[in-house]
Amino acid sequence: MTIAENYSLTDRHTFHIPTRCRWFFEYRTVEELRQVLSSDLLREHSFLQIGGGSNLLFCGDYSGVILHSAICFWDKIEETETEVRVRVGSGVVWDDFVARCVENGWYGVENLSYIPGEVGASAVQNIGAYGVEAKDVIDEVECIEIATGRDVVFKNEECGYGYRTSVFKRELKGRYIVTAVVFKLSKTECFQTGYGNIAAALSDGPLTLARLRQVIIAIRKQKLPDPDELGSAGSFFMNPIIPEVLYNRLLVDYPQLPGYPDGNGRVKVPAAWLIDKCGWKNKSEKDAAVYEKQCLVIVNRGNATAKDVVVLAERIQESVYRKFCIEIRPEVNYIRGTW
Ligand code: EPU
Repeated sequence: MTIAENYSLTDRHTFHIPTRCRWFFEYRTVEELRQVLSSDLLREHSFLQIGGGSNLLFCGDYSGVILHSAICFWDKIEETETEVRVRVGSGVVWDDFVARCVENGWYGVENLSYIPGEVGASAVQNIGAYGVEAKDVIDEVECIEIATGRDVVFKNEECGYGYRTSVFKRELKGRYIVTAVVFKLSKTECFQTGYGNIAAALSDGPLTLARLRQVIIAIRKQKLPDPDELGSAGSFFMNPIIPEVLYNRLLVDYPQLPGYPDGNGRVKVPAAWLIDKCGWKNKSEKDAAVYEKQCLVIVNRGNATAKDVVVLAERIQESVYRKFCIEIRPEVNYIRGTW
């Protein structure tokens, strides 16, 4: 177990805005996590579990304890002719997991290539890209109940998955820590290439798992900044899901507005398109700026503060609401500074 006091979080979150925490605990096993959870320090201070920090905005130094998983095992627990079940520790880097699945010829996560973050957070956040979400391949989520230290396993259908959400972000928020995830992957060919320009990008060569992964990585690199070069948290806002009546009304003035009906009388519209139409591309608040190649991303041009990011985000939200009557909400979690 690693324990550090007055610890810099600057490299532990992808905005890379300088931040510290009072205590930092990194555990390597479930037993170590149980020990930490029953310690006086955690009874007396607030605490926060983080993953790769790719969805966080620290709004000041954190006066409590930051917990981070370094549970990094990988077990194949079942294999049939058509399927495989793998149990993966919460601290495994998400893209290392994807790379390994692709190498083994297992289908299901290749469209989620190159998403930053760790396996534990993927099950909380239900990460998604190019027509696939983590919930499509998650079989079970293993957790520790914070109040009691006992092990609890959630079946996929108990996780309440939706677009970028789960029970762990809503009704059970703050009650469990994910320690491992069991994924169910297919051994028979099943590609998802229906999203956007994926099929076109693949058209001049064979369709293999490795090639699809390469194409997805290339598209992501083209559109999204590398957080090690330009701090960001990927998509800053979620795509809003609006009533069909509002969508149809907007089409009168904005016939180009893309929309994806959800089958329940609502339509998902791309926040990037709305933000772009409000003229935000490349606009900034001090060193916080709207990324030039993707309006959904706010970047730290070097010396942005969390306040700059929040001010910019609020100005964007207001202008989208004024123009389209649509509320867009951050996907990024604001962590209030308490130090
Ligand atoms: N668009 C604009 N202006 C821009 C960027 C995009 O008008 O600056 C338009 C595009 O033309 C397109 C639409 O917005 O019609 C949607 O763009 P895109 O397909 O790139 O995807 P997105 O909706 O912006 C979502 C996810 C991404 C994921 C991509 C691909 C959310 C919040 N974001 O973005 O996830 O990679 O789809 O599946 O759902 C993340 O969560 O951090 C993330 C990057």
